[in-house]
Amino acid sequence: MSRFLEVEGMTAGYGAVTVLRNISLYVDHGENVGLFGPNGHGKTTLLRTLSGLMRAAMGKVRFDGQDISRARPWEIVGLGMVQAQQGNTLFGEMEIAETLELAAFNRRAREKAAANLDRIYTLFPRLAERKRQKAKTLSGGERQMLSIGAALMCAPRLLLLDEPTLGLSPRLKEELAEALRAISQDVPLVVVEQDVELLLALSNRLYLIEHGEVQREIGKDNAPDHQEIMDMYFGEHA
Ligand SMILES: Nc1ncnc2c1ncn2[C@@H]1O[C@H](COP(=O)(O)OP(=O)(O)OP(=O)(O)O)[C@@H](O)[C@H]1O
Ligand SMILES: [Mg+2]
Repeated sequence: MSRFLEVEGMTAGYGAVTVLRNISLYVDHGENVGLFGPNGHGKTTLLRTLSGLMRAAMGKVRFDGQDISRARPWEIVGLGMVQAQQGNTLFGEMEIAETLELAAFNRRAREKAAANLDRIYTLFPRLAERKRQKAKTLSGGERQMLSIGAALMCAPRLLLLDEPTLGLSPRLKEELAEALRAISQDVPLVVVEQDVELLLALSNRLYLIEHGEVQREIGKDNAPDHQEIMDMYFGEHA
């Protein structure tokens, strides 16, 4: 059986600036993969390219056996690879319930919308308490919950998360982390996360992304300790 997600020799960037260089990585069926590395080294660019929001200059992406290297973002969502957008990209005038209902835009997602909605309100009781509140009046943490909820409404078969807990207060962060741990039990994740504890709790396998390259693959059998990972974050392992 082929890999669930497979990236081969991906090169991407902005205009003449190359950010990702010959990235190859994979996600197997049933595993959660964490991405980490110093700031500005290409993690967000990688997720955006996988989601089809940017086009790779070179390389191949296969999702569930299908070549999606040139697929449009909504086609990729339709196939089941969904990136949660940052909380600040929500439509401010829309209520929580409307945002979630509209997020299930393709047929596969609509079929599962009622069950997914229940699940999201269970995962995020704060959203359930505020169904009629407009997105623009939510706190940063609540917005982040809503954007993850909206991604879940797309019925992801693989969910991509880019620093979901960034900038949250400790209390909201803990609430969100608990929900993410629950989500990781039944939705495979590719997650970028600065919090090493949470990154390790969510992932079976890690890739260190540095200078736009996969510098290291870390599995259970070669797992460094917490401090070594911290050092890698700050690019001090060389
Ligand atoms: N829209 C853009 N136009 C030009 N350059 C960009 C753009 N977005 C990102 N870059 C550059 O691409 C490089 C990688 O950025 P990226 O956001 O992918 O890094 P990152 O690893 O996600 O960083 P962080 O940990 O800070 O989120 C950086 O040098 C950044 O300045
Ligand atoms: Mg980033």
